[in-house]
Amino acid sequence: MRPAARPSSLRPCRLHRRVLAGLLLTGSLLSAAAQTTPEAAPATQARPVGDTLYPTLGQAGLDAVHYDVHLSVTQPGTRALSGDVTALLRATRDLPLISLDFLGPAVTVALWNGQPVPFQQDHTAGKLLVLRALPAGQEARVTLRYAGVAGVLPDPVFPFTLGWQAVPDPLNVGGGANFAFSEPDGARTFIPVNDHPSDPATFTVTLTVPPGTAAVASGQRVRVTDTPASPDRPAAHTVTFDQARPIPTYTLAVHIGPLEAVDRPPVNVGPGGAPIALRDYFPPGTPDTVRAPYRRTGEILTFLSGWFGPYPFRTYGSAVVTPRLPALETAGLSTMPVTSSSDRVLVHETAHQWFGNSVLLRDWSDVWLNESFATYAELLWQEHQGQNTQPLTDAWYATLQRRGTRPLVAATPAEMFDSTAYQRGALALHALRRQVGDDAFRTFLRGYAQGGAATPSAAPERAAQVVGTGDLLAYTRRTLGEQAERVLRDWVQSSALPPAP
Ligand code: TRP
Ligand code: ZN
Repeated sequence: MRPAARPSSLRPCRLHRRVLAGLLLTGSLLSAAAQTTPEAAPATQARPVGDTLYPTLGQAGLDAVHYDVHLSVTQPGTRALSGDVTALLRATRDLPLISLDFLGPAVTVALWNGQPVPFQQDHTAGKLLVLRALPAGQEARVTLRYAGVAGVLPDPVFPFTLGWQAVPDPLNVGGGANFAFSEPDGARTFIPVNDHPSDPATFTVTLTVPPGTAAVASGQRVRVTDTPASPDRPAAHTVTFDQARPIPTYTLAVHIGPLEAVDRPPVNVGPGGAPIALRDYFPPGTPDTVRAPYRRTGEILTFLSGWFGPYPFRTYGSAVVTPRLPALETAGLSTMPVTSSSDRVLVHETAHQWFGNSVLLRDWSDVWLNESFATYAELLWQEHQGQNTQPLTDAWYATLQRRGTRPLVAATPAEMFDSTAYQRGALALHALRRQVGDDAFRTFLRGYAQGGAATPSAAPERAAQVVGTGDLLAYTRRTLGEQAERVLRDWVQSSALPPAP
Protein backbone atom coordinates (compact mmCIF):
# COMPACT_ATOMS: atom_id res chain seq x y z
CA MET A 1 0.00 0.00 0.00
CA ARG A 2 1.13 3.51 -0.69
CA PRO A 3 0.51 6.05 2.05
CA ALA A 4 -1.46 8.11 -0.46
CA ALA A 5 -3.92 5.25 -0.76
CA ARG A 6 -4.30 4.79 2.96
CA PRO A 7 -7.88 5.26 4.13
CA SER A 8 -8.18 8.58 5.94
CA SER A 9 -9.23 6.76 9.10
CA LEU A 10 -5.74 5.29 9.43
CA ARG A 11 -3.86 7.97 11.32
CA PRO A 12 -0.54 7.36 13.02
CA CYS A 13 -0.76 7.06 16.78
CA ARG A 14 1.97 6.81 19.35
CA LEU A 15 2.65 3.40 20.77
CA HIS A 16 6.09 2.34 21.74
CA ARG A 17 5.20 -1.20 22.45
CA ARG A 18 8.12 -2.74 20.62
CA VAL A 19 10.71 -0.62 22.36
CA LEU A 20 9.15 -1.62 25.66
CA ALA A 21 9.13 -5.30 24.70
CA GLY A 22 12.80 -5.02 23.80
CA LEU A 23 13.75 -3.73 27.22
CA LEU A 24 11.75 -6.43 28.91
CA LEU A 25 13.38 -9.11 26.81
CA THR A 26 16.97 -8.18 27.47
CA GLY A 27 16.23 -7.75 31.14
CA SER A 28 14.33 -10.90 31.86
CA LEU A 29 14.27 -13.75 29.42
CA LEU A 30 13.84 -16.16 32.28
CA SER A 31 11.21 -14.23 34.18
CA ALA A 32 8.15 -16.11 32.96
CA ALA A 33 6.46 -18.52 35.25
CA ALA A 34 6.51 -21.59 33.05
CA GLN A 35 7.45 -25.22 32.95
CA THR A 36 11.17 -25.70 33.33
CA THR A 37 13.61 -28.23 34.65
CA PRO A 38 16.77 -27.88 36.75
CA GLU A 39 19.06 -29.08 33.95
CA ALA A 40 17.69 -26.44 31.56
CA ALA A 41 20.32 -24.47 29.68
CA PRO A 42 20.52 -20.79 30.63
CA ALA A 43 17.94 -19.08 28.42
CA THR A 44 19.96 -15.90 28.11
CA GLN A 45 22.25 -17.76 25.71
CA ALA A 46 19.67 -17.38 22.93
CA ARG A 47 20.78 -14.44 20.82
CA PRO A 48 18.25 -12.74 18.52
CA VAL A 49 19.01 -12.27 14.79
CA GLY A 50 20.08 -8.70 15.47
CA ASP A 51 17.62 -6.75 13.33
CA THR A 52 18.27 -3.00 13.44
CA LEU A 53 14.61 -2.08 13.99
CA TYR A 54 13.37 -5.25 15.74
CA PRO A 55 16.31 -6.24 17.93
CA THR A 56 14.47 -9.00 19.79
CA LEU A 57 13.17 -10.98 16.81
CA GLY A 58 14.47 -14.39 15.79
CA GLN A 59 17.39 -16.49 16.93
CA ALA A 60 20.87 -16.08 15.45
CA GLY A 61 22.20 -19.39 14.10
CA LEU A 62 18.73 -20.89 13.76
CA ASP A 63 17.58 -21.85 10.28
CA ALA A 64 13.93 -22.83 9.99
CA VAL A 65 13.70 -25.12 6.97
CA HIS A 66 10.00 -26.03 6.98
CA TYR A 67 6.90 -25.36 9.06
CA ASP A 68 4.10 -27.92 9.11
CA VAL A 69 1.23 -25.81 10.44
CA HIS A 70 -2.17 -27.13 11.55
CA LEU A 71 -4.68 -24.50 12.62
CA SER A 72 -8.17 -25.24 13.79
CA VAL A 73 -10.86 -22.56 13.96
CA THR A 74 -14.25 -23.72 15.21
CA GLN A 75 -15.83 -20.25 15.35
CA PRO A 76 -14.62 -18.08 12.46
CA GLY A 77 -14.67 -14.38 13.32
CA THR A 78 -13.52 -14.94 16.91
CA ARG A 79 -9.93 -15.03 18.14
CA ALA A 80 -10.26 -18.61 19.37
CA LEU A 81 -7.56 -20.70 17.75
CA SER A 82 -5.79 -23.95 18.28
CA GLY A 83 -2.57 -24.96 16.62
CA ASP A 84 -0.17 -27.82 16.15
CA VAL A 85 3.05 -26.73 14.46
CA THR A 86 6.07 -28.87 13.65
CA ALA A 87 9.12 -26.85 12.64
CA LEU A 88 12.07 -28.51 10.95
CA LEU A 89 14.99 -26.56 12.42
CA ARG A 90 18.66 -26.57 11.52
CA ALA A 91 21.49 -25.03 13.55
CA THR A 92 24.11 -23.04 11.63
CA ARG A 93 26.09 -22.72 14.87
CA ASP A 94 25.94 -24.48 18.26
CA LEU A 95 22.66 -23.51 19.88
CA PRO A 96 22.28 -24.06 23.65
CA LEU A 97 18.48 -24.03 23.23
CA ILE A 98 15.84 -23.12 20.66
CA SER A 99 14.12 -19.74 20.96
CA LEU A 100 11.09 -19.15 18.74
CA ASP A 101 8.97 -16.01 18.50
CA PHE A 102 5.44 -16.64 19.74
CA LEU A 103 2.72 -14.37 21.13
CA GLY A 104 -0.07 -16.91 20.75
CA PRO A 105 -2.02 -19.07 23.19
CA ALA A 106 -0.48 -21.15 25.95
CA VAL A 107 1.60 -24.04 24.65
CA THR A 108 0.57 -27.31 26.28
CA VAL A 109 2.90 -29.77 24.58
CA ALA A 110 6.43 -29.52 23.18
CA LEU A 111 8.07 -32.44 21.36
CA TRP A 112 11.62 -32.89 20.08
CA ASN A 113 11.70 -35.41 17.24
CA GLY A 114 8.45 -36.74 18.67
CA GLN A 115 9.55 -37.01 22.32
CA PRO A 116 8.44 -34.64 25.11
CA VAL A 117 10.98 -31.91 25.81
CA PRO A 118 11.02 -29.20 28.53
CA PHE A 119 9.99 -25.76 27.37
CA GLN A 120 9.32 -22.31 28.72
CA GLN A 121 6.86 -19.72 27.42
CA ASP A 122 7.67 -16.09 28.13
CA HIS A 123 4.49 -14.26 27.20
CA THR A 124 6.00 -10.86 27.97
CA ALA A 125 9.03 -11.29 25.74
CA GLY A 126 7.07 -13.24 23.13
CA LYS A 127 9.49 -16.15 23.19
CA LEU A 128 8.88 -19.88 23.28
CA LEU A 129 12.05 -21.57 24.55
CA VAL A 130 12.64 -25.25 23.85
CA LEU A 131 15.24 -26.36 26.35
CA ARG A 132 17.48 -28.62 24.37
CA ALA A 133 20.78 -27.89 22.64
CA LEU A 134 21.13 -28.25 18.87
CA PRO A 135 24.74 -28.65 17.68
CA ALA A 136 25.90 -26.84 14.54
CA GLY A 137 24.87 -28.63 11.35
CA GLN A 138 22.18 -30.76 13.03
CA GLU A 139 18.44 -30.77 12.52
CA ALA A 140 15.49 -31.34 14.83
CA ARG A 141 11.74 -31.48 14.45
CA VAL A 142 10.14 -29.34 17.15
CA THR A 143 6.40 -29.73 17.68
CA LEU A 144 4.34 -27.22 19.65
CA ARG A 145 0.63 -27.60 20.46
CA TYR A 146 -1.48 -24.75 21.74
CA ALA A 147 -5.10 -23.72 22.18
CA GLY A 148 -6.78 -20.57 23.37
CA VAL A 149 -6.82 -17.07 21.96
CA ALA A 150 -4.51 -15.65 19.27
CA GLY A 151 -2.01 -13.01 20.36
CA VAL A 152 -2.61 -9.30 19.87
CA LEU A 153 0.13 -7.02 18.55
CA PRO A 154 -0.74 -3.34 18.00
CA ASP A 155 1.08 -1.74 15.08
CA PRO A 156 3.49 0.82 16.59
CA VAL A 157 2.29 3.56 14.21
CA PHE A 158 -1.10 2.76 12.67
CA PRO A 159 -4.40 2.03 14.41
CA PHE A 160 -4.61 -1.68 13.68
CA THR A 161 -3.20 -4.87 15.10
CA LEU A 162 -0.78 -7.10 13.25
CA GLY A 163 -1.06 -10.83 12.75
CA TRP A 164 -4.23 -12.84 13.28
CA GLN A 165 -7.31 -10.84 12.28
CA ALA A 166 -10.89 -11.59 13.30
CA VAL A 167 -13.85 -10.18 11.35
CA PRO A 168 -16.84 -10.73 13.67
CA ASP A 169 -20.16 -12.25 12.73
CA PRO A 170 -22.60 -10.39 15.02
CA LEU A 171 -25.71 -12.03 13.55
CA ASN A 172 -24.19 -15.48 13.89
CA VAL A 173 -25.05 -16.43 10.32
CA GLY A 174 -21.71 -17.92 9.31
CA GLY A 175 -20.29 -14.58 8.16
CA GLY A 176 -17.28 -14.50 10.50
CA ALA A 177 -13.79 -14.54 9.03
CA ASN A 178 -10.15 -14.76 10.05
CA PHE A 179 -7.02 -13.95 8.13
CA ALA A 180 -3.35 -13.12 8.56
CA PHE A 181 -1.99 -9.59 8.18
CA SER A 182 1.51 -10.06 9.50
CA GLU A 183 4.03 -7.61 8.06
CA PRO A 184 6.38 -7.02 9.74
CA ASP A 185 6.21 -9.25 12.84
CA GLY A 186 2.64 -10.46 13.30
CA ALA A 187 3.06 -14.09 12.19
CA ARG A 188 4.11 -14.82 15.77
CA THR A 189 0.58 -13.94 17.00
CA PHE A 190 -0.70 -17.25 15.61
CA ILE A 191 2.28 -19.53 14.88
CA PRO A 192 5.63 -20.07 16.63
CA VAL A 193 8.29 -19.03 14.11
CA ASN A 194 11.81 -17.72 13.66
CA ASP A 195 10.16 -14.41 12.82
CA HIS A 196 12.64 -12.63 10.58
CA PRO A 197 12.50 -12.09 6.79
CA SER A 198 16.08 -13.33 6.37
CA ASP A 199 14.99 -16.83 7.40
CA PRO A 200 12.43 -17.96 4.81
CA ALA A 201 11.00 -21.48 4.96
CA THR A 202 8.66 -23.78 3.09
CA PHE A 203 5.23 -24.34 4.64
CA THR A 204 2.54 -26.96 4.72
CA VAL A 205 -0.62 -25.37 6.10
CA THR A 206 -3.62 -27.48 7.11
CA LEU A 207 -6.73 -25.56 8.11
CA THR A 208 -9.67 -27.18 9.90
CA VAL A 209 -12.88 -25.12 9.81
CA PRO A 210 -16.64 -25.69 10.11
CA PRO A 211 -18.34 -27.32 7.10
CA GLY A 212 -19.33 -24.74 4.50
CA THR A 213 -16.54 -22.33 5.46
CA ALA A 214 -13.75 -21.71 2.96
CA ALA A 215 -10.12 -22.01 4.03
CA VAL A 216 -7.11 -20.99 1.94
CA ALA A 217 -3.42 -20.39 2.49
CA SER A 218 -0.26 -19.67 0.50
CA GLY A 219 0.71 -22.55 -1.77
CA GLN A 220 -1.00 -25.22 -3.82
CA ARG A 221 -4.05 -26.98 -2.48
CA VAL A 222 -3.09 -30.63 -2.08
CA ARG A 223 -5.85 -32.19 0.05
CA VAL A 224 -9.46 -31.63 1.10
CA THR A 225 -11.15 -33.79 3.75
CA ASP A 226 -14.68 -33.52 5.07
CA THR A 227 -15.27 -35.32 8.36
CA PRO A 228 -18.82 -35.98 9.53
CA ALA A 229 -19.86 -35.19 13.09
CA SER A 230 -18.98 -37.89 15.63
CA PRO A 231 -19.71 -38.22 19.38
CA ASP A 232 -16.41 -36.51 20.30
CA ARG A 233 -16.16 -33.82 17.59
CA PRO A 234 -18.33 -31.70 15.30
CA ALA A 235 -18.25 -32.04 11.52
CA ALA A 236 -15.23 -30.37 9.96
CA HIS A 237 -13.77 -29.26 6.65
CA THR A 238 -9.98 -29.67 6.40
CA VAL A 239 -7.83 -28.27 3.59
CA THR A 240 -4.05 -28.55 3.12
CA PHE A 241 -1.81 -26.18 1.16
CA ASP A 242 1.78 -26.84 0.17
CA GLN A 243 4.04 -23.78 -0.18
CA ALA A 244 7.03 -25.39 -1.88
CA ARG A 245 9.16 -22.27 -2.36
CA PRO A 246 10.60 -20.79 0.85
CA ILE A 247 8.83 -17.58 1.94
CA PRO A 248 9.35 -15.13 4.80
CA THR A 249 6.98 -15.73 7.71
CA TYR A 250 5.23 -12.36 7.29
CA THR A 251 4.14 -13.29 3.77
CA LEU A 252 2.20 -16.41 4.76
CA ALA A 253 -1.41 -15.99 3.62
CA VAL A 254 -4.23 -17.57 5.64
CA HIS A 255 -7.92 -16.81 4.99
CA ILE A 256 -10.92 -18.46 6.63
CA GLY A 257 -14.53 -17.41 6.03
CA PRO A 258 -17.51 -17.49 3.71
CA LEU A 259 -15.40 -16.79 0.63
CA GLU A 260 -16.44 -17.27 -2.97
CA ALA A 261 -13.65 -18.61 -5.21
CA VAL A 262 -13.37 -17.23 -8.74
CA ASP A 263 -11.09 -19.04 -11.21
CA ARG A 264 -9.50 -17.25 -14.13
CA PRO A 265 -7.65 -18.58 -17.16
CA PRO A 266 -4.04 -19.50 -16.32
CA VAL A 267 -1.16 -17.40 -17.67
CA ASN A 268 2.14 -18.87 -18.87
CA VAL A 269 4.53 -16.75 -16.82
CA GLY A 270 6.20 -19.34 -14.57
CA PRO A 271 9.80 -20.51 -15.10
CA GLY A 272 10.13 -21.75 -18.68
CA GLY A 273 6.66 -20.42 -19.47
CA ALA A 274 4.98 -22.78 -16.99
CA PRO A 275 1.26 -22.07 -16.48
CA ILE A 276 0.27 -20.17 -13.33
CA ALA A 277 -3.23 -20.94 -12.04
CA LEU A 278 -5.24 -17.85 -11.04
CA ARG A 279 -7.93 -17.84 -8.35
CA ASP A 280 -9.41 -14.95 -6.37
CA TYR A 281 -11.55 -15.09 -3.22
CA PHE A 282 -14.35 -12.63 -2.42
CA PRO A 283 -16.51 -12.13 0.68
CA PRO A 284 -20.25 -12.60 0.08
CA GLY A 285 -21.94 -9.63 -1.55
CA THR A 286 -18.73 -8.07 -2.93
CA PRO A 287 -19.99 -5.47 -5.42
CA ASP A 288 -18.96 -5.66 -9.05
CA THR A 289 -17.01 -2.38 -8.81
CA VAL A 290 -14.74 -4.03 -6.22
CA ARG A 291 -14.37 -7.20 -8.29
CA ALA A 292 -13.52 -5.37 -11.54
CA PRO A 293 -9.76 -4.79 -11.08
CA TYR A 294 -9.17 -8.45 -10.26
CA ARG A 295 -10.36 -9.44 -13.74
CA ARG A 296 -7.09 -7.88 -14.95
CA THR A 297 -4.88 -10.13 -12.75
CA GLY A 298 -3.66 -12.25 -15.67
CA GLU A 299 -2.86 -9.16 -17.74
CA ILE A 300 -0.98 -7.60 -14.80
CA LEU A 301 0.98 -10.76 -14.08
CA THR A 302 1.94 -11.11 -17.74
CA PHE A 303 2.98 -7.47 -17.97
CA LEU A 304 5.09 -7.56 -14.79
CA SER A 305 6.80 -10.83 -15.69
CA GLY A 306 7.80 -9.13 -18.94
CA TRP A 307 9.79 -6.68 -16.82
CA PHE A 308 10.88 -8.84 -13.87
CA GLY A 309 11.25 -12.32 -15.37
CA PRO A 310 9.44 -15.56 -14.44
CA TYR A 311 6.82 -15.32 -11.69
CA PRO A 312 8.28 -17.06 -8.60
CA PHE A 313 5.25 -19.02 -7.29
CA ARG A 314 2.97 -21.70 -8.73
CA THR A 315 -0.34 -19.91 -8.29
CA TYR A 316 -1.59 -16.35 -7.91
CA GLY A 317 -4.70 -14.47 -6.91
CA SER A 318 -6.16 -12.09 -4.35
CA ALA A 319 -8.21 -12.62 -1.23
CA VAL A 320 -10.45 -9.59 -0.65
CA VAL A 321 -11.01 -8.61 2.99
CA THR A 322 -13.47 -6.13 4.52
CA PRO A 323 -11.43 -4.37 7.27
CA ARG A 324 -9.74 -1.06 6.44
CA LEU A 325 -6.15 -2.25 6.45
CA PRO A 326 -3.32 -1.64 4.00
CA ALA A 327 -3.06 -4.19 1.22
CA LEU A 328 -0.48 -6.91 1.83
CA GLU A 329 1.62 -8.94 -0.60
CA THR A 330 0.98 -12.35 0.99
CA ALA A 331 2.83 -15.01 -1.02
CA GLY A 332 0.98 -16.18 -4.11
CA LEU A 333 -2.27 -14.71 -2.75
CA SER A 334 -2.31 -10.97 -2.11
CA THR A 335 -4.51 -9.79 0.75
CA MET A 336 -6.61 -6.96 -0.69
CA PRO A 337 -8.95 -4.82 1.39
CA VAL A 338 -12.20 -3.77 -0.31
CA THR A 339 -10.99 -0.16 0.07
CA SER A 340 -7.73 -0.91 -1.81
CA SER A 341 -9.32 -2.73 -4.71
CA SER A 342 -7.86 -0.85 -7.67
CA ASP A 343 -5.60 -1.94 -10.52
CA ARG A 344 -2.89 0.37 -9.10
CA VAL A 345 -2.76 -1.38 -5.71
CA LEU A 346 -3.11 -4.80 -7.35
CA VAL A 347 -0.08 -4.01 -9.54
CA HIS A 348 1.83 -2.89 -6.41
CA GLU A 349 1.10 -6.10 -4.44
CA THR A 350 1.75 -8.27 -7.49
CA ALA A 351 5.17 -6.63 -7.95
CA HIS A 352 5.98 -7.52 -4.31
CA GLN A 353 5.73 -11.20 -5.30
CA TRP A 354 9.18 -10.58 -6.81
CA PHE A 355 10.34 -7.72 -4.58
CA GLY A 356 9.94 -8.91 -1.00
CA ASN A 357 8.62 -12.42 -1.49
CA SER A 358 11.33 -13.73 -3.81
CA VAL A 359 14.13 -11.18 -3.25
CA LEU A 360 14.16 -11.10 0.55
CA LEU A 361 15.10 -8.46 3.12
CA ARG A 362 18.26 -8.83 5.16
CA ASP A 363 17.00 -6.34 7.75
CA TRP A 364 13.73 -4.47 8.31
CA SER A 365 15.55 -1.16 7.91
CA ASP A 366 15.99 -2.16 4.22
CA VAL A 367 12.22 -2.38 3.64
CA TRP A 368 12.42 0.49 1.11
CA LEU A 369 13.90 -2.16 -1.22
CA ASN A 370 10.46 -3.81 -1.23
CA GLU A 371 8.35 -0.67 -1.39
CA SER A 372 10.37 1.25 -3.98
CA PHE A 373 10.23 -1.47 -6.64
CA ALA A 374 6.54 -2.18 -5.92
CA THR A 375 5.73 1.54 -6.21
CA TYR A 376 7.81 1.84 -9.37
CA ALA A 377 5.74 -0.98 -10.87
CA GLU A 378 2.74 1.40 -10.63
CA LEU A 379 4.56 3.78 -12.97
CA LEU A 380 5.46 0.95 -15.37
CA TRP A 381 1.79 -0.05 -15.46
CA GLN A 382 0.64 3.52 -16.18
CA GLU A 383 3.20 3.76 -18.95
CA HIS A 384 1.89 0.46 -20.36
CA GLN A 385 -1.64 1.95 -20.38
CA GLY A 386 -0.30 4.67 -22.66
CA GLN A 387 -0.52 7.34 -19.96
CA ASN A 388 1.91 10.19 -19.46
CA THR A 389 3.75 9.37 -16.22
CA GLN A 390 5.12 12.87 -15.63
CA PRO A 391 2.14 13.82 -13.40
CA LEU A 392 2.79 10.70 -11.30
CA THR A 393 6.49 11.41 -10.69
CA ASP A 394 5.62 15.10 -10.09
CA ALA A 395 3.09 14.03 -7.47
CA TRP A 396 5.65 11.73 -5.80
CA TYR A 397 8.15 14.57 -5.67
CA ALA A 398 5.58 17.07 -4.35
CA THR A 399 4.56 14.63 -1.58
CA LEU A 400 8.17 14.41 -0.42
CA GLN A 401 8.60 18.20 -0.51
CA ARG A 402 5.41 18.62 1.51
CA ARG A 403 5.98 15.87 4.09
CA GLY A 404 9.76 16.05 4.29
CA THR A 405 12.09 13.17 3.61
CA ARG A 406 15.13 11.26 4.91
CA PRO A 407 17.77 8.81 3.70
CA LEU A 408 16.14 5.60 2.46
CA VAL A 409 17.31 3.17 5.15
CA ALA A 410 14.68 3.33 7.92
CA ALA A 411 15.92 4.36 11.36
CA THR A 412 12.71 3.53 13.26
CA PRO A 413 9.69 1.25 12.74
CA ALA A 414 7.62 4.40 12.09
CA GLU A 415 9.71 5.10 8.98
CA MET A 416 9.20 1.69 7.38
CA PHE A 417 6.05 2.48 5.45
CA ASP A 418 6.31 6.26 5.04
CA SER A 419 6.40 8.33 1.86
CA THR A 420 10.20 8.18 1.76
CA ALA A 421 10.16 4.37 1.52
CA TYR A 422 7.50 4.42 -1.22
CA GLN A 423 7.82 7.64 -3.23
CA ARG A 424 11.47 8.54 -2.69
CA GLY A 425 12.37 4.90 -3.24
CA ALA A 426 10.47 4.86 -6.52
CA LEU A 427 12.01 8.18 -7.62
CA ALA A 428 15.47 6.77 -6.86
CA LEU A 429 14.77 4.00 -9.38
CA HIS A 430 13.42 6.54 -11.85
CA ALA A 431 16.58 8.65 -11.49
CA LEU A 432 18.65 5.55 -12.16
CA ARG A 433 16.57 4.77 -15.27
CA ARG A 434 17.04 8.32 -16.58
CA GLN A 435 20.78 7.97 -16.00
CA VAL A 436 21.30 4.66 -17.80
CA GLY A 437 18.45 4.52 -20.33
CA ASP A 438 15.54 2.11 -20.78
CA ASP A 439 17.42 -0.91 -22.11
CA ALA A 440 20.06 -1.00 -19.38
CA PHE A 441 17.38 -0.31 -16.77
CA ARG A 442 15.27 -3.22 -17.99
CA THR A 443 18.24 -5.60 -17.72
CA PHE A 444 19.04 -4.21 -14.28
CA LEU A 445 15.47 -4.69 -12.99
CA ARG A 446 15.21 -8.20 -14.29
CA GLY A 447 18.60 -9.19 -12.91
CA TYR A 448 17.75 -7.79 -9.48
CA ALA A 449 14.31 -9.46 -9.44
CA GLN A 450 15.94 -12.78 -10.28
CA GLY A 451 18.37 -12.55 -7.34
CA GLY A 452 21.35 -10.89 -9.04
CA ALA A 453 22.17 -8.61 -6.08
CA ALA A 454 22.21 -11.36 -3.47
CA THR A 455 25.51 -12.27 -1.87
CA PRO A 456 26.28 -16.00 -2.11
CA SER A 457 25.89 -17.68 1.26
CA ALA A 458 26.42 -20.99 2.98
CA ALA A 459 22.94 -22.23 2.10
CA PRO A 460 22.60 -21.02 -1.50
CA GLU A 461 19.41 -22.91 -2.27
CA ARG A 462 17.47 -21.02 0.39
CA ALA A 463 19.35 -17.88 1.39
CA ALA A 464 20.69 -16.72 -1.97
CA GLN A 465 17.92 -14.19 -2.37
CA VAL A 466 18.52 -12.14 0.81
CA VAL A 467 19.63 -8.57 0.06
CA GLY A 468 20.39 -5.36 1.90
CA THR A 469 20.83 -1.78 0.71
CA GLY A 470 24.60 -2.29 0.29
CA ASP A 471 23.92 -5.28 -1.98
CA LEU A 472 21.75 -3.16 -4.28
CA LEU A 473 24.43 -0.48 -4.51
CA ALA A 474 27.14 -3.05 -5.21
CA TYR A 475 24.93 -4.68 -7.85
CA THR A 476 24.29 -1.29 -9.46
CA ARG A 477 28.02 -0.57 -9.64
CA ARG A 478 28.73 -4.05 -11.00
CA THR A 479 26.05 -3.98 -13.70
CA LEU A 480 25.62 -0.27 -14.54
CA GLY A 481 28.92 1.29 -13.54
CA GLU A 482 30.30 3.86 -11.14
CA GLN A 483 28.36 6.86 -12.39
CA ALA A 484 25.00 5.06 -12.06
CA GLU A 485 25.91 3.88 -8.57
CA ARG A 486 26.71 7.47 -7.56
CA VAL A 487 23.27 8.63 -8.74
CA LEU A 488 21.50 5.89 -6.79
CA ARG A 489 23.72 6.41 -3.75
CA ASP A 490 22.75 10.07 -3.59
CA TRP A 491 19.05 9.12 -3.53
CA VAL A 492 19.78 6.46 -0.87
CA GLN A 493 21.99 8.45 1.45
CA SER A 494 21.40 12.19 1.08
CA SER A 495 19.44 13.79 3.90
CA ALA A 496 18.15 16.37 1.42
CA LEU A 497 15.82 15.56 -1.45
CA PRO A 498 17.93 15.22 -4.63
CA PRO A 499 16.78 17.23 -7.69
CA ALA A 500 13.79 15.76 -9.52
CA PRO A 501 15.00 13.21 -12.12
N1 TRP B 1 3.75 -3.90 2.48
C1 TRP B 1 2.40 -3.39 2.38
C2 TRP B 1 2.32 -2.80 0.98
O1 TRP B 1 2.90 -1.82 0.70
C3 TRP B 1 2.04 -2.34 3.40
C4 TRP B 1 2.13 -2.68 4.85
C5 TRP B 1 2.33 -3.91 5.41
C6 TRP B 1 1.99 -1.79 5.93
N2 TRP B 1 2.33 -3.83 6.77
C7 TRP B 1 2.14 -2.55 7.11
C8 TRP B 1 1.78 -0.40 6.01
C9 TRP B 1 2.07 -1.95 8.38
C10 TRP B 1 1.71 0.17 7.25
C11 TRP B 1 1.86 -0.58 8.44
O2 TRP B 1 1.82 -3.38 0.10
ZN1 ZN C 1 4.15 -2.25 -0.76
